[in-house]
Amino acid sequence: MANLLVIESWVRSVGLILPRKLRALGHRYTFVSRKPEHYTGWAQGAGLLASGAKPEPHPLIALADDVITAETNDAEQLIAALKPLHKERRFDGVLTCCDYYLETTALVAEALGLPGPPPSAMRVARSKHLMREACRRAGLAGPRFLATPDLDAALAFAKEVGFPVVLKAVDLCASEDVRAAHDADELRAAFAHILGPPVNIRGQTRPGVVLVEEFLRGEEFSVETCTWRGDTAVIGVTDKSLVGYPHFIESGMMHPADLRPEVARSLADCVRQALTAVGYTHGLTHTEIKLTEAGPRIIEINARMGGSYVFELVELVTGVDFFTAVIDLALDKRPAVQPRDTGITSAAVHFLLPPRGGRVVSIRGADEVRRDSDIHRLVVDDVVGKTLRAPQDNNDFMGHVIAVDRNGLGARRKAEWAVSRLDIQVE
Ligand SMILES: Nc1ncnc2c1ncn2[C@@H]1O[C@H](COP(=O)(O)OP(=O)(O)O)[C@@H](O)[C@H]1O
Ligand SMILES: [Mg+2]
Repeated sequence: MANLLVIESWVRSVGLILPRKLRALGHRYTFVSRKPEHYTGWAQGAGLLASGAKPEPHPLIALADDVITAETNDAEQLIAALKPLHKERRFDGVLTCCDYYLETTALVAEALGLPGPPPSAMRVARSKHLMREACRRAGLAGPRFLATPDLDAALAFAKEVGFPVVLKAVDLCASEDVRAAHDADELRAAFAHILGPPVNIRGQTRPGVVLVEEFLRGEEFSVETCTWRGDTAVIGVTDKSLVGYPHFIESGMMHPADLRPEVARSLADCVRQALTAVGYTHGLTHTEIKLTEAGPRIIEINARMGGSYVFELVELVTGVDFFTAVIDLALDKRPAVQPRDTGITSAAVHFLLPPRGGRVVSIRGADEVRRDSDIHRLVVDDVVGKTLRAPQDNNDFMGHVIAVDRNGLGARRKAEWAVSRLDIQVE
């Protein structure tokens, strides 16, 4: 049994599973947050609680041995607050599953003498422009790009590489503020929008630059990896579909991707090279990659396990338990990430999105879908009667379905069938 420090978290998805996993494995943990109240209201947010019902505390808080309020947005202050606590409680490891705290957690690990990745690798992996620069320095082919605070420089760059270009924030997640621009007017609008908010949802100061990239065409995949003591194991390749162009909303994924082995290997090799380029020596990654006509091109490195149920799809097929791997990494134990036969050949998720903006009047067909033996789970959020915006990013999901195929690579088709059976009426 280990004694762990957990620094902030996502509120939903992995944030709901991690505390239960820590407890199930018999570990103790102290949860550190600048604002523990950020985690209340989680169940309503997840559509798991009827409106008006009494809110329950978030599992991260309910299952913690202790909850400490400390300024997690300032690594120096945080370390100063944690040092005396560490002397007293002797933590065995520190971890986070929230992108916004990966570098801080690495800095805490370093300062307290606990296992962790080099903070510089986390910073580079986490910042989309620093990652691009590191890959370019290492000679990896990638899109032409420019990270700039200056609109005129962005316009000149777009003219040079040719429209459409992709504009994105260097620090956000979930396809938030990622969009294609087809002309100068669209670029101006997207640029101002991305540069706008001075702080992110966690109150962290934003970097004040916009990343403009050459548009990469091709199918998209993600590669799950686990690096321990500098050695990277590739766990598998997952496919990904997108909707909502010029936005890039994830619509579904299947693991494993239906690829010839040599193509899957070329994707895995490209990811290994990118991880070496950013100096990644310790941790899981969920790296996104496009297979273009000229070969694989990195989209971004997420320096943590895949969210959006990717970890669950991969676990259904390979038996790899990502949460245990995260905890093992925090304790510097060799993570068990060798795939084994689970009896499931493919698993897919498909997300539910409103067909357009408006008030959701009804959702029909869920019972039929749930009766199908290949449907692992269907979750429909409590959105009937609510007014939803037209979908723009992954925050607009209103549920998901997970399908499995025990005999082949048919899980994506099955998940898509399930979504097609749901009749979502919006007025
Ligand atoms: N240069 C690019 N060319 C084409 N599509 C891109 C490019 N950059 C990002 N995208 C699309 O936008 C999506 C979100 O971008 P990404 O950099 O992964 O941001 P996020 O951190 O929000 O996931 C990607 O999954 C991809 O589909
Ligand atoms: Mg991404």
